[in-house]
Amino acid sequence: MAKELIFSSAKKTIYRDGDTVIKEFCEGFPKAEVLNEALCNARVETIEALNVPKILGFTTVDGRWALIKEYVPGRTLEELMEENPDKLEEYMEQMVDLHLHIHAQACPLLNKLKEKTMRSLKTVEQLDNSQRYELQTRLDGMPKHTKLCHGDFNPSNIIVGDDGKLYVIDWVHASQGNASADVARTYLLLALKDKKKAELYMDIFCEKTGTEKRYVQGWLPIVAAAQLSYKRPEEKDLLESWINVFEYQ
Ligand SMILES: Nc1ncnc2c1ncn2[C@@H]1O[C@H](COP(=O)(O)OP(=O)(O)O)[C@@H](O)[C@H]1O
Ligand SMILES: [Mg+2]
Repeated sequence: MAKELIFSSAKKTIYRDGDTVIKEFCEGFPKAEVLNEALCNARVETIEALNVPKILGFTTVDGRWALIKEYVPGRTLEELMEENPDKLEEYMEQMVDLHLHIHAQACPLLNKLKEKTMRSLKTVEQLDNSQRYELQTRLDGMPKHTKLCHGDFNPSNIIVGDDGKLYVIDWVHASQGNASADVARTYLLLALKDKKKAELYMDIFCEKTGTEKRYVQGWLPIVAAAQLSYKRPEEKDLLESWINVFEYQ
């Protein structure tokens, strides 16, 4: 069977090759990031309660790094949300339940979310010194939890398998930490595309868990600042507006 293109972006191209997926990284993509993605995936794929397509190998294609993973036949939740807007609430509820199921897991070898975030706050160039200090102080005061956090939990990283099971991919940002930080990050990722979806997600999460919205919102300036490191011009204004909101305290 010939390789079939399933996704491509500036830095990555994903092909299906029979029962496998080949995730090819662009030229110059840091080897450490590729291997880190494989390592995080390898650590999470051992958790039996989750459906995580396994890493099967790494290789190079014309000098570019590539990961080989199990292929999951199905559709991403993002595709399903686009195709069936009338079912949005149902999908969002499924997504929140899956997120809670992830947070109920432990993966003690993963990096700590607070340490990882502190490192990104230190290096984000776009912050001035007082913003950096405020954000670091706020992060330092957050409770230390050790829940499994995906770090990039959004509908494009959830595959609804043809077998009816939900599969979660793209674990490169996984860590152990505070569930509210992970939910704030999902809120941010959704809001960068569609604020209404983000609000719906936050409302369902808070209702299901009895969490005060204020508590999740408290993480928003921190996750927004960390997101600035991607330097995407189209995200700049929204992210900066969140960084400067401190009245949630
Ligand atoms: N194991 C897989 N099985 C089926 N489709 C996949 C698989 N891995 C990735 N995909 C498809 O490729 C897309 C991008 O893959 P992903 O690993 O999330 O890359 P990125 O790091 O660019 O987000 C997914 O949204 C999904 O459509
Ligand atoms: Mg992805």
